This record gives sequence, C-alpha cells and structure tokens, in this order.
Amino acid sequence: ETSELTEHTPKEQWGSRIGVVLAVAGSAVGLGNFLRFPGQAAQNGGGAFLLPYFISLLILGIPLCWAEWTVGRYGGMRGFHSAPGIFSVICRTPKARYLSVFALLIPLVIYMYYIVIEAWCLCYAWNYATGALMMGSDAEAYESFFDSVVGSNQDGHVFGEGAGLLVFIGITFVANFILIYRGVAKGIETFCKFAIPAMVVCALCVLVRVLTLPDSDVDGGLGFMWNPQPEALLNPKTWLAASGQIFFSLSVGFGVIINYSSYLTKKDDVVLSGLTASSMNEFFEVCLGGLITLPAAFMFLGAGVASFGTFALGFNALPNVFAQMPAGQFFGFLWFFMLFLAAITSSLSMLQPVIAFFEEGFNLERHVSTPFLGIIALGGAFFVIYFSSGLKALDTLDFWVGTLLIFVLALIQAVVYGWVFGIDEGERQAHIGAHIRIPRFVQYMLKYVVPVYLGGIFIAFCYLNV
Ligand code: PFF
Repeated sequence: ETSELTEHTPKEQWGSRIGVVLAVAGSAVGLGNFLRFPGQAAQNGGGAFLLPYFISLLILGIPLCWAEWTVGRYGGMRGFHSAPGIFSVICRTPKARYLSVFALLIPLVIYMYYIVIEAWCLCYAWNYATGALMMGSDAEAYESFFDSVVGSNQDGHVFGEGAGLLVFIGITFVANFILIYRGVAKGIETFCKFAIPAMVVCALCVLVRVLTLPDSDVDGGLGFMWNPQPEALLNPKTWLAASGQIFFSLSVGFGVIINYSSYLTKKDDVVLSGLTASSMNEFFEVCLGGLITLPAAFMFLGAGVASFGTFALGFNALPNVFAQMPAGQFFGFLWFFMLFLAAITSSLSMLQPVIAFFEEGFNLERHVSTPFLGIIALGGAFFVIYFSSGLKALDTLDFWVGTLLIFVLALIQAVVYGWVFGIDEGERQAHIGAHIRIPRFVQYMLKYVVPVYLGGIFIAFCYLNV
C-alpha cells in the first residue's frame, strides 16, 4: 500500500462542493448578522459605518479568509484537521501547536454563551407558534417576558426560570450534539443544505413585510439606520468596531475555517468557495440584517430604540413591532425560527474544531469525544447562566473573547501565513484546483498590511482604554 503524503485521504470529507460553501456560510451567517451588525452600525455612525466596514472586509476579511481556507486544506491533505496539528505542519515544528490554543479556546468559549442566545431564539419561536407572545400593544408585557427569559432583572432571580428556558437549552444542546455526532458531511453539511435556503425564504418574507409598511422610507426606519454621520469616522472606536464586526461575522480568525477547509481535497477550489461563502454572508448581513432589525424597531418605537442595546433590540423591541403589524404572529415566528437556524449552523462550527482536536490529540472515537465535549460545554453554559444576573456576563465574555482574543489570533494567523508559511507557497497552494486567481497584491497585503493594520487597531484600542 502506498500512501503519498499529499494524497492523504481525510477521515471525513465534505459530500459536495456546494455543501462545503453552505457549511461555511452557515458558520458565518448567525446572530452576528441580524443582531450584532445593526447594533454596531447604529452606535457607530449609521451609514458612515459602512466605510470602515467595507475597508475591513477588503483588507482583513477576504484576505484572511483565503489564507485560512488555503492553510486548512494544506493541513488536511497532510492528515491534520485540528488547529494544533495544522499549525505544526505549517510551521514545520511541533512547538507551533502552542500558538494555536486560541483557535480551540475561542470557539469553545463563544459556544458557551452563544448557545444560550440560541435557546432564547427557540423559546421565542415556540411562544410565537403557540400564540403566547401575541400580547397586544402592552410594551410592559414584552419587557417582562424578555426579563423572564434572559433574567435581566437583578433581584437574585435565576436566569430564564420564568419562561422554562432550561427546556429550550436542553433541546438546543441535544440538537447540536446529534448533528455533530453524525459528522461533517451527514450532520453539518446536510443540515446547512436545508437551513440556508430556509433562512433566505424566511428572511425575505420578513423583509418584504417590513419594507411595505407605511413608514419604511428615508425619513422613517431606513433613514434612522442608514443616514450617515460622517463625524464618527474620526473616532478610532468606529474603525475598531468595524473590523471586529467583520471578523465575528465572517467567522474569520476563530480557527473555524481552517478546520472546515481541512476536509477538502486538492480538487476543490478554495478561492472561489471562500469568496462565495463571504459574499453570502455579506448579503445576509447588509441586505437582510441591515434592512430589517433596526428600521422595523424604529418605525414603531421611534428614536428611543438606539438605547435598547443589541439583545434588547432583537428580543424586546421587535416583539412590539410584530404585535402592531398585520399577521404579526406569523412573521414573529418566521423571524425567530430563522434566527434559531442561523444560530445553530454557527454553533455547530464552534464544536467541530474541538471535536477534531479530541480525535486527533487524544485518539478519541466520536462516540467518546462527542459526549465528552457535551459535558464540558454544558458545564460552561451553566456557568454563564448561573453567574449572569442579566446580560452582563454575556457582554463581558463577548468583549474579551469575541472581540479582543480574535484580534490576537487573527494577528498570529496573518504572521504565520505571511512570514512562516510564506506568501509564495501560500499563493501556489491556494490556486490548486482554483478557477479564478487571487490578485498578487493580496499576498503582499497579508504579509505587510494586515499585521500592521491589526497591530495598529490593537494599540489604538489599548490606548483608548487606559
Ligand atoms: N459568524 C457567527 C455570527 O455572525 O453570528 C458567529 C461565530 C461563528 C463566531 C463561529 C465564532 C465562530 F467560531
């Protein structure tokens, strides 16, 4: 039996080309697109936010995404699917695996709070389906429902007890782990092939409903979100927020894409696949997320929505909106069900890198690694639930892990790609099986511009916060 190094057949493989694109898009499209993006844009200059946002997309997002796809497949074809394995093969020294701890920790920690919000979505969808959430125009009723789900009243009350949240957390967990247990092609890919089209349909229905409401013009909802406030561009915080949003949203810098792309073969086109998945994410974010959440909330609630905060916007403001529109129960259900699908396809992508690590690092079989990870993740989620009297724990974790650590990991990835792996090798590897070419300057950007840009933002951030 001859086994050539580059011909290694991965233990698992994606079933189809469109499947892997949908799986990566599933990871990218999530709560970040529908809740985080509108919140960030509204707080950071409205329409003006789009300038730093698109600059970050072009300079950081797409180049790093290509680098991750390339390096992931390179590692996968040499038999490695976990970040420690891939990093040691890229850097040609096993010591490099220590560089990659963040690529395991970040997804796992994000999972521990993301899953809680995922369960809120399911809880809301269920309560719309049963009609319990159609409480007329009583804003206080929605607020107290929101409080009972997220436990945001501080009087020692346990998170979510009022709305039976534990049941929804249980269902969400089981759904996640069944899909993970079924594996990359049968679990993740099959589910994303159904979920992404379903999300497009649901979101388009809600979008058409919102845009055909009487006040959705530039003086009303759309204008509130999109009329630019150019002075925000002078504030470094706007630039920081924009690049943070790009990373979070594209799932770049987490160690997720290197894992997903490690199940590719040399026949796959990483250049086109990476670009397609990123474009799909931008469509969901700018066209759907950007046109639904805030404009709708503003139309019904006025400028006060700016003070709502990301979570309250989705879970407290929007139910008021659905209550006032014709067929609101139906659209409310569609919206929260769509959010649930978006969240689950993202949370799966946080688990798979860790599963790959358990299998590779400790030789665990799937029927051992899956429950093992389940126990760790469940413990973490309860930690989050128990210690968060309200939204504070989520915000704190989201900030430290979801914003700051990503910067560090993205910087490590850019340096390893540009300076250790090398841009010539990177360019060669990226184009194996590719139908389109990455312009040469993108490689120079990865080597010089990305580290400087990331380092600059990081320094500006530290400076701003002392
Ligand atoms: N990209 C996802 C979103 O926009 O909601 C979030 C996410 C996915 C974060 C995967 C981290 C991750 F590993």
